[in-house]
Amino acid sequence: MNESIVSCHPDAGTVRPLTGLYRDMELPDHGRGGPFVYTNYIASLDGRISVPAATGGQKVPDRIANARDWRLFQELAGHADLLLSSGRYLREFEAGTAQDSLPVGTDAAFSDIHVFRARQGLAPQPDVAVLSGRLDFAVPTRLLEQGRRVIVMTGEAATDARVQAHERAGVEVIALPQGEQPGGNALATGLTRLGYRRIYAVAGPYVMHTLLSAQLLDALFLTRVHRIIGGHPFASLCEGDLLPETGDFQLTSMYLDAQGPGGCSQTFSRYDIVPAG
Ligand SMILES: NC(=O)c1ccc[n+]([C@@H]2O[C@H](COP(=O)([O-])OP(=O)(O)OC[C@H]3O[C@@H](n4cnc5c(N)ncnc54)[C@H](OP(=O)(O)O)[C@@H]3O)[C@@H](O)[C@H]2O)c1
Repeated sequence: MNESIVSCHPDAGTVRPLTGLYRDMELPDHGRGGPFVYTNYIASLDGRISVPAATGGQKVPDRIANARDWRLFQELAGHADLLLSSGRYLREFEAGTAQDSLPVGTDAAFSDIHVFRARQGLAPQPDVAVLSGRLDFAVPTRLLEQGRRVIVMTGEAATDARVQAHERAGVEVIALPQGEQPGGNALATGLTRLGYRRIYAVAGPYVMHTLLSAQLLDALFLTRVHRIIGGHPFASLCEGDLLPETGDFQLTSMYLDAQGPGGCSQTFSRYDIVPAG
């Protein structure tokens, strides 16, 4: 595999290997709302992050998914002590249609990331928090068997029966005030109280909307594959009403990769939120 990628910003023109790009970068352990919260998307040139799946629902487009981006997704997971997922993901996981099962990959190709985690004093796998109003899924037993703490954060409309079913399975349930879905200041406070340092949000565009509305997101990593794919319905990395406050970022770094899918190029960008005031 040709490992080379070229920096566009900063230090334009510098060539470096893909492996280690995100593993070896510094990430803070404090963000604007408490823990440092970061997320990652892969998008087409026309801005799509998902397309309809044959089995129903949406999925990451096969036309843009690629091993080089997946490597970086894993390197980002390497820094996290908590992964943030959604009820939608666990429903898809139960139905057998989800992309993966919230790990830092156990393939030999990712062994360096496990070494990195051990050196940083991090557990082999990050804990998992799930945002869900509906609670209509079973947490995969494998997550609990791996010794990971699994927390479901829900809203004030959660039914007792569903809460108790999760608790019996060994899942912690935190019911937040301020709405049927977890969000707003209650979510910010709830996440901070959990005591984690770096939270990697691996959910979709509605959770992204929730994180931006609650002013919780600190950094966005975006792989842009230079391929136009079309598709209905259009789904970008943030979906929902107009945001009360825009999400404003500064480009921190951008790398050009000439080895994207099918001979397309792609870019790997990191954006950090503009600090308040
Ligand atoms: N290309 C990429 O990089 C990338 C990355 C991530 C996801 N995706 C794709 O995006 C697609 C769509 O994901 P999605 O639309 O289901 O989005 P999502 O943001 O992953 O999940 C939405 C779910 O989050 C829960 N949720 C909790 N609090 C919420 C709140 N305040 N507002 C809204 N939702 C809240 C809800 O769960 P309950 O229904 O249980 O209440 C809701 O179903 C998926 O197919 C996924 O593959 C692509």
